[in-house]
Amino acid sequence: MLNIALPKGRLGDQVLSLFSQIGYDCGGIYENDRRLVLESPENNVRYLLVKPSDVAIYVEYGAADIGVVGKDILLDGNPDVYELLDLGIGKCRICVAGPEDYVEDRESVLRVATKFTTVAKDYYSSKNREIEIIKLNGSIELAPILGLTDVIVDIVESGRTLKENHLKVLETIVPISARLIANRASYLFHNEEISGICEKLQEVLPR
Ligand code: PRP
Repeated sequence: MLNIALPKGRLGDQVLSLFSQIGYDCGGIYENDRRLVLESPENNVRYLLVKPSDVAIYVEYGAADIGVVGKDILLDGNPDVYELLDLGIGKCRICVAGPEDYVEDRESVLRVATKFTTVAKDYYSSKNREIEIIKLNGSIELAPILGLTDVIVDIVESGRTLKENHLKVLETIVPISARLIANRASYLFHNEEISGICEKLQEVLPR
């Protein structure tokens, strides 16, 4: 069976719907579905529903042959996998954001809260700006509100979280979307099947 790692949640549901459109139906999921493995025996495919930030780990270590992951995870973790296809869904951007009345003090070290430590380090090092990173794992927006940091580097999708917390985008670092990735060995051994999936997906992707 081909193991496909998908991010649990809204993006995973969208990907399951894409796979069902190309004939890899898993029989549907229902509300409050707690199953972590969904099968499509007629296609010899098994879906593994994992935490979004763990998809690339399953694929890199071969527990999944292919997977769907946000470009943010690939940029920050740089996993040893093939990136095969931009699915054009799960679109958002990684931004620097801060309080609505934020004015940068260029004389002092900038304090940055983020879960994307590599992206933040690379970005500010390219600008020769000295920073101190405080790694958080969620609700990053709280950091500048409480004065823990000056700014955040985080995902912005609709912009609502920023707005409702009186923060604003200061700079956009990089646009993000969901990518199809493959384990390097699986890509060789299951090449025909994986290439077939890529071709069919390209036909149904939003343009
Ligand atoms: C992400 C991100 C922002 C929010 C942005 O959080 O970290 O908080 O979505 O979305 P918006 O621009 O549409 O408001 P997520 O829901 O992944 O939770 P987290 O706080 O655990 O990171």
